[in-house]
Amino acid sequence: MAMVEAWDPAALVLRPMQLRDLDQVLQVERRSFSAPWSRQAFVTELVENQFARYVVAEYHNRVIGYAGVWLILDEGHVTNIAVDPEFRGRHLGETLLRHLMALCVAHGAARMTLEVRVSNAVAQNLYRKLGFAGVGIRKGYYTDNREDALIMWADLPPSAPPATHQPGGSAR
Ligand SMILES: CC(C)(COP(=O)(O)OP(=O)(O)OC[C@H]1O[C@@H](n2cnc3c(N)ncnc32)[C@H](O)[C@@H]1OP(=O)(O)O)[C@@H](O)C(=O)NCCC(=O)NCCS
Repeated sequence: MAMVEAWDPAALVLRPMQLRDLDQVLQVERRSFSAPWSRQAFVTELVENQFARYVVAEYHNRVIGYAGVWLILDEGHVTNIAVDPEFRGRHLGETLLRHLMALCVAHGAARMTLEVRVSNAVAQNLYRKLGFAGVGIRKGYYTDNREDALIMWADLPPSAPPATHQPGGSAR
């Protein structure tokens, strides 16, 4: 596809997911998972879950990826991450996950966790690259085929103190 061949990272925008994104989000979701979330699942997350934050990666007005996290006390729990198959391998998944990590740090989270299918080596590689480590198994976690989940955790750096402005002071 010409648009992908002429990949232009400068045209990529990360922004909060909105209800009007859901048609496109669901296309990516259905192309990415054997047991995709329903529209209602996303609506509930966006409208009712005060702990949830979802971000989309938009490229020339097309949603090509998204990711979400629950911010609960000092932990971030990654709930979903997917990149449209046409756009994989361009570090979009990494960009989305780094964005979630920065969001968690900004909210004062000290660590993040997620579950991933034991067979999903690609996603596990992404998570390990960004500092997640496997700590345990949830037996039969996935209801479609009773596959086990690998539970992964990552420690986050402390958030930077808020910038202070001292009149007349040096910026350094
Ligand atoms: C997992 C997913 C989000 C990765 O997105 P992506 O944009 O293709 O991945 P990136 O280009 O950001 O790759 C980041 C790292 O992931 C790993 N990775 C990505 N593609 C890989 C592949 N085909 N084989 C092995 N490792 C791979 C690598 O460690 C890579 O880093 P590197 O390029 O420096 O080697 C994407 O494959 C996807 O949507 N999969 C279906 C949905 C899914 O499984 N989500 C996770 C549920 S837990």
